[in-house]
Amino acid sequence: MDISPALPSRSGAASRQAAWLGRLARTVEEALRQGGVARRALIAEAVAEASRAPELRELRRFGSQRCYARHLLHADPAERFSILALVWRRGQFSPVHGHHAWCAFALSCGRLLETHYAICEADGLAVPQHTLPLAPFCADFTEAADGHVHRLGNPAREVAVSLHVYGRVWGGGGRGVNRPVIARAGD
Ligand SMILES: [Fe+2]
Repeated sequence: MDISPALPSRSGAASRQAAWLGRLARTVEEALRQGGVARRALIAEAVAEASRAPELRELRRFGSQRCYARHLLHADPAERFSILALVWRRGQFSPVHGHHAWCAFALSCGRLLETHYAICEADGLAVPQHTLPLAPFCADFTEAADGHVHRLGNPAREVAVSLHVYGRVWGGGGRGVNRPVIARAGD
């Protein structure tokens, strides 16, 4: 999947966007400086707050017919993290995947379902455990080492937008962050 280089924005919206995005980026930088337990909590809280930004809802019109669309909002100059908005049209789902880096995300508008998977020891395939709707403005944080495997998607007619922060610079097609996982056939 291609990635848009930046948020499209109108005058006025651009400066508001810069404000919340700058706050989020600075908080992530500070969290990374502090490290430890504080890092996780600080980032999750900042992502939850930032997901309320009205500018994210405006991205609903920047979906793609082909696949859910990624918009790169901020790339840390020191390459420690990246901030993206994902736009999900009806029926668009991510592949089943884990992560090579820590990640935090929150739903900004619309509906998204998240399915959690367990890895079968015998064959290494992902098996779905449960599916839950994401609560808006509530951030999830996972460490790469957690081995968390999931799939997100929009089952509803309304376009959904989610905000994501990854502990790595994002490459095209999800390279560098998403770890592909094969799900058991039929799951
Ligand atoms: Fe993910």
